[in-house]
Amino acid sequence: MKRITLALTAAGLLLAGPALADEALAKKNMCTTCHAVDKKMVGPSFKDIAAKYKGSKDAEKMLAESIAKGSKGKFGAMPMPPQPKAAGDAAALAKWIMGL
Ligand code: HEC
Repeated sequence: MKRITLALTAAGLLLAGPALADEALAKKNMCTTCHAVDKKMVGPSFKDIAAKYKGSKDAEKMLAESIAKGSKGKFGAMPMPPQPKAAGDAAALAKWIMGL
């Protein structure tokens, strides 16, 4: 019985996973020191990023890669340093950004 409860809890956590892909996840990964959802800071706003790549079918994959490995020359002179600590969350973050 205990096993079943544990399994259900784990499944519940997995299901809750995508819901975590929100601003809290961006905060946790320090993205919000340079980004905000709807205003430009050091980096472009997440909404501007989503708008730029709307309609591009590989956007999520490409952005996840940019998050982990860094990006430059796409929005301006300021480059984004690689975010290796966020690599595990990069796909979820990219998905969240593209959904804004
Ligand atoms: C030190 C500041 C800084 C931090 C920290 C930072 N960014 Fe960025 N980010 C930038 C800048 C500057 C750009 C614009 C780069 C360019 O012009 O290519 C950018 C661009 C991006 C892009 C667009 C990339 C592309 O290929 O067009 C995404 C997506 C993004 N950031 C997400 C994130 C996420 C998610 C985090 C946290 C894990 C994060 N950033 C942390 C500064 C930062």
